[in-house]
Amino acid sequence: MGKVQIAPTTMGLPMSCVVVSSYDVKRGANMIALAYCAMVNFKPPMVAVSIRPSRYSYPLVKEAKDFVVNVPLAEQARLVDLAGIVSGRSVDKFDLAKLSKEAAARVKAPLIAEFPINMECKVLDTVELPTHNLIIGEVVALHAEESLVDEKGNLSSESAPFLMYFNGAYFAIGEKVGNRGFSKNPNDKAS
Ligand SMILES: Cc1cc2nc3c(=O)[nH]c(=O)nc-3n(C[C@H](O)[C@H](O)[C@H](O)COP(=O)(O)O)c2cc1C
Repeated sequence: MGKVQIAPTTMGLPMSCVVVSSYDVKRGANMIALAYCAMVNFKPPMVAVSIRPSRYSYPLVKEAKDFVVNVPLAEQARLVDLAGIVSGRSVDKFDLAKLSKEAAARVKAPLIAEFPINMECKVLDTVELPTHNLIIGEVVALHAEESLVDEKGNLSSESAPFLMYFNGAYFAIGEKVGNRGFSKNPNDKAS
C-alpha cells in the first residue's frame, strides 16, 4: 500500500499526555491537560509545554513563573480528559476530579498526588507562537512512585504504564521493544 499526502498537522506525532498543575492565587491551584509537552534539553533538564493564552492556566503559569508536569498512568485517562474539557475559570478541578494537592519542594504550584511522576519546573522562557505560547521550564525537582525507580535511584524502564495521545485519542504505551542502543547488540532482547 502506498502513502498519501494529507494536510500538514501536528497530529502525526504520538505524544505523551500530561496534566500541568499551576499556582492560583484565588483558589490555590488549577490543572490543565496538555498533549503539547516535550523534553527539550538534557542538562540542565528542561521541558517545554505549549498553552493557548486563552486558557485559564496560561496567566497562572506566567505569573507564578513555575508549574508541575504530572505524568498519568494509562488507567488515569479519564482524569486527564476531565482536566482537558473543563476550565478552572468556572470550577475547582481538584474537587471535581477528587484529586489531591501536595506541596512541592521547589515551586509554588502543587503536585497532583495521585499521578505517579511529578516534575517541578521553573519557567525560563516563553516564545509566542501563532496559536499556542511555548513555555520552557527547567525541571528543578522530580518525584516518582517507588515502583518506577530502580535500585540506583534512576527511573526504571522495565515497565511504562503511561498514557499516550494520538490524533484525538488516548492509548496505553504498548510492549517494550528494546533498550537504547540495542541495535548494536542482538542479544539485548526487549524483556
Ligand atoms: C488530551 C488533551 C490535550 C490537550 N492539550 C492541550 C495543549 O497541549 N495545550 C493547550 O493549550 N490546551 C490543550 N488542551 C485543552 C485544555 O486542556 C482545555 O482547554 C482545558 O479545559 C483548559 O483548562 P484551564 O482553562 O483550566 O486552563 C488539551 C485537552 C485535552 C483533552
